[in-house]
Amino acid sequence: ARGLRVALLGCGVVGTEVARVLLEQREDLAARVGVPLELAGIAVRDVEQPRDPVVPRELLTRDAAGLVDGADIVVEVMGGLEPARGLLLRAIEGGAAVVTANKALLAADGPTLYKAADTAGVDIYYEAAVAGAIPIVRPVRESLAGDHVRRVLGIVNGTTNYVLDQMATGGLDLAEAVAQAQELGYAEADPTADVDGYDAAAKAAILASLAFHTRVSADDVAREGIRGITSDDVAWAARTGHAVKLLAIAEQTGEGVAVRVHPALVPADHPLAGVKGAFNAIFVEADGAGPLMFYGQGAGGRPTASAVMGDVVSAARHRVLGGKGPQESTYAARPLLPPDAAVTRYQ
Ligand code: HSE
Repeated sequence: ARGLRVALLGCGVVGTEVARVLLEQREDLAARVGVPLELAGIAVRDVEQPRDPVVPRELLTRDAAGLVDGADIVVEVMGGLEPARGLLLRAIEGGAAVVTANKALLAADGPTLYKAADTAGVDIYYEAAVAGAIPIVRPVRESLAGDHVRRVLGIVNGTTNYVLDQMATGGLDLAEAVAQAQELGYAEADPTADVDGYDAAAKAAILASLAFHTRVSADDVAREGIRGITSDDVAWAARTGHAVKLLAIAEQTGEGVAVRVHPALVPADHPLAGVKGAFNAIFVEADGAGPLMFYGQGAGGRPTASAVMGDVVSAARHRVLGGKGPQESTYAARPLLPPDAAVTRYQ
């Protein structure tokens, strides 16, 4: 049978690991899908940049649009709003399934992509956009689609969790710890997105949209990052039996949906206090299911590539066997508390 052409957009920390899996686990993937997955090319800004030896030089191209045309599956791990949005729309309109890890784009303009995918009858998958390796998008999008979710709460940014941890145990200041997180491949290309809570707010918006079947964008999220937190704050928290954690909280209240991201003092004996390094943990509370807990590596190349590849295999199976992944909910107009109201109400 003909192989499926996979176009990879982006070759950073995650893209490199996706390429590695596609190339090194070719046989296994072919056995799981039924046909081979051919890595057709990797779109990058700079073809000459030194890269991991696993990345074949001849697959690199600056012509992302050309690569997208003719692909069966387009994997977007470049991040940022443009050109990612234009390329994904082009892919969808051309009939390709898309897999994206781009939380900023989904939180800003997800419905445009979901609607386009719905119209074209193609898959759009984004497990890797929230909490790295942790399966959380599928459970909220699919497994809990028949339940009523009340609350989603947790740590969804690995970089800030690592940084707060290093400030607590390694005696580092914020800038030193951020530099380490960048070296370890946890931080966004611009770590401001992590430090100032934009990354966590994007993930909170995606989870809230899925959990409450409504449209929540990053701008609807009350947001405070960890820039103002000092080593002294963290040390004081530890002395009083607490850990400082950057929490994302999305709740369905009587008055509407409220979503916020801010640092919080978590008692040392609470499970969230024990979430170390670049791990994430998310609690979901639903009427029928009761409390659920999700825990694992929330950042980093290999863990995030694991989530990407799960989506690639799902999309590829649909290409081979027929079928299609979940649709987005038709968005009900639900009252959404404005960000400032969310904060005042819950302070
Ligand atoms: N920069 C993100 C984080 C990567 O630190 O959580 C995973 O989305």
